[in-house]
Amino acid sequence: MKLIAFHNIKGGVGKTASAVNIAYQASASGIPTLLWDLDPQGAASWYFSRQAPSDAKAAKLVKGKTPIGRLITESGLPQLDLIPSDVSFRNMDLQLEKHGHANALQSWVEPLAEDYALVILDCPPSLSRLAENIFAAADRIYVPMIPTWLSVNSWEQLQAFVKDKGLDRKRFHPFFTLVDRRKRLHREFLEKPPEDIKRRLAGYIPYASDIERMGEYRQPVALFAPRSPAALAYRLMWEQMRKQLKL
Ligand SMILES: Nc1ncnc2c1ncn2[C@@H]1O[C@H](COP(=O)(O)OP(=O)(O)O)[C@@H](O)[C@H]1O
Ligand SMILES: [Mg+2]
Repeated sequence: MKLIAFHNIKGGVGKTASAVNIAYQASASGIPTLLWDLDPQGAASWYFSRQAPSDAKAAKLVKGKTPIGRLITESGLPQLDLIPSDVSFRNMDLQLEKHGHANALQSWVEPLAEDYALVILDCPPSLSRLAENIFAAADRIYVPMIPTWLSVNSWEQLQAFVKDKGLDRKRFHPFFTLVDRRKRLHREFLEKPPEDIKRRLAGYIPYASDIERMGEYRQPVALFAPRSPAALAYRLMWEQMRKQLKL
């Protein structure tokens, strides 16, 4: 089983859109996939119109009082299951401080290997204890970035955190999202990305109204606009990830 995370310190950069669409691409290519919505705001869960199960409590999970399997629901799509966000995920950091250790998340996800070949984490925008756990456990961490200088700054902050915690930097891969080729800065970033942005995935996710419309359809973009540039971009991105993950 492979574990990947979509993470960025910043919100609104396309973490959830990427997690949902890549989860769809993976499942559609026949890989049993689980998408875990770790953001208490619950955007990924919302795209699948799934409510959190009533007994899904992060506190219980962290204290070892509930097996992770209890938190899983169906997504409504073949080969794709979901752990919906739960308001109690808000306290996960506190719980991890109290009861957890740096490898807590790793031990929670281990039993999932029986049923899934790929687990995808949609992360909240922070550099918390939870993030530390995620970075310790994930095979790859994908970092969506809007091509702006502020994003370079966030990337540098992330790199500093990773270095500080003694984590392996090579597992972190940025990629550009919300790319608007009408903007000169975006074109410049694509043609000549800043030196600090290393191990970037090729290609990019364009700014696309079809991606915004996912909220209207409550579906991954490939299901309601299969021939759109957005759907194609996610498919190409997934092919790269698949190779990296050897899936
Ligand atoms: N490539 C894109 N093109 C257009 N809109 C996008 C794109 N990616 C994300 N969005 C929109 O931007 C907003 C933030 O995206 P989201 O994936 O929720 O970000 P995050 O999870 O990083 O906070 C959402 O309204 C989403 O629909
Ligand atoms: Mg999100």
